[in-house]
Amino acid sequence: MSDDLEQNSYNIFTAEFAACPHQTYEAMKSGCPVSRNAINQGPILTRHEDVMWALRHPEIFSSQMDLHLAIGTVRPMIPQQIDPPAQTKYRRILDPRFSRRRMLEIQDDVRASANDLIDRFIDDGRCEFDEAFAIPLPCISFLSLMGLPLEELDLFLELKDNIIRPQESAADPADAPRIRAETGQRIYAYFEQMIADRRANPTDDMMGYLVEVDLEGAKLTNEEILDISYLLLLGGLDTVTATLGCNIAYLASNPDQRQRLVTNPELIPAAVEELLRYETPVMQIPRVLKQDVSIAGVELKAGELVTLMIGASNVDEAAFENAGVVDFDRERNVHVAFGAGPHRCLGSHLARMELRVGMEEWHRRIPQYEIQAGETPRYTPGIREVRYLPLVWNATP
Ligand code: HEM
Repeated sequence: MSDDLEQNSYNIFTAEFAACPHQTYEAMKSGCPVSRNAINQGPILTRHEDVMWALRHPEIFSSQMDLHLAIGTVRPMIPQQIDPPAQTKYRRILDPRFSRRRMLEIQDDVRASANDLIDRFIDDGRCEFDEAFAIPLPCISFLSLMGLPLEELDLFLELKDNIIRPQESAADPADAPRIRAETGQRIYAYFEQMIADRRANPTDDMMGYLVEVDLEGAKLTNEEILDISYLLLLGGLDTVTATLGCNIAYLASNPDQRQRLVTNPELIPAAVEELLRYETPVMQIPRVLKQDVSIAGVELKAGELVTLMIGASNVDEAAFENAGVVDFDRERNVHVAFGAGPHRCLGSHLARMELRVGMEEWHRRIPQYEIQAGETPRYTPGIREVRYLPLVWNATP
């Protein structure tokens, strides 16, 4: 590897990078517009303009990658791992079920769940935020949206953790691929049973909808429903958990900003957007190049695995004035935390609602909180989940 390339190369899968990515984003952006991924040598795009262009050109930057082993699946997940036009037809049937209006219909349930969770620990004056709030809230919302029993909460948490971070339950790290593959089969088996139940007894929840919906004159096959459900499980849980953690970790460390939200809760929706931009919990999106292409004068080759570093493009000065400043009054916030183009996040309205309601209830009931003295939050690589976030507050009896 030449010195130039080495200098421009970054390991983006470390806990240190996840905890504090902004310095690395700056280094990436101040060098060549195309950095390199130290693990697979693939190009990393960081500029807002380049990332947007890539996301809007799926015929060049394809989502059809062989990432199966990494997530325990045996087929591509639908619609994330397939390209238009096939992807578009699935979005046509899925988008209406995830509309803003539909998500507002379930916000009272999410609010009630948030309060039930807070009731469990508020009097203790402390909690580990991830376990106590950020993990269960999206999982409960997901189960009720899908029409799955709430008693299955622990099972779903185990399944998604075994896929996303199997090393935590493996006695031997070499066991991780086996745990993933076995868990993938358990997820398929679980949803297969659900599909059979819904075919026998129709319901109007998400599983019932997937069984009944018409796609170009035909019902979805079991495999199609499995490949959609698997993605909803993986896409809908950790992302919101990670975002809640990043938001609260930021606010716990920035008491003036926290106090603004407590005094002006109507600022919370804007704060959610601004923290999605600045913290960007899903930092990167992978694509594979279908043809040679030139980006900012750099030649990229067909077959290369490209990382679209949306975290860096969300703090690109060319797209955001004072990009490094967290400003809840920002007027034009064109962040790409939910991606862009045809694969733009299907669950963005659900995520926004969960984040807003979660942050409203948390700050209404626990307005003053801080990170426990002497403790340091711990972030996971990949998606920036704050796996350890010990908070303390004054519990008033
Ligand atoms: C704050 C929370 C969330 C963030 C930051 C987020 C982020 C993203 C991003 C960046 C993408 C684009 C991926 C790509 O282009 O390859 C995406 C796609 C997707 N997200 Fe989310 N997401 C969140 C919550 C959710 C939720 C709650 C669900 C659903 C239950 C969900 C379901 C999906 C699906 C199905 C896709 C694939 C869409 C497609 O390929 O057409 N996401 N998300």
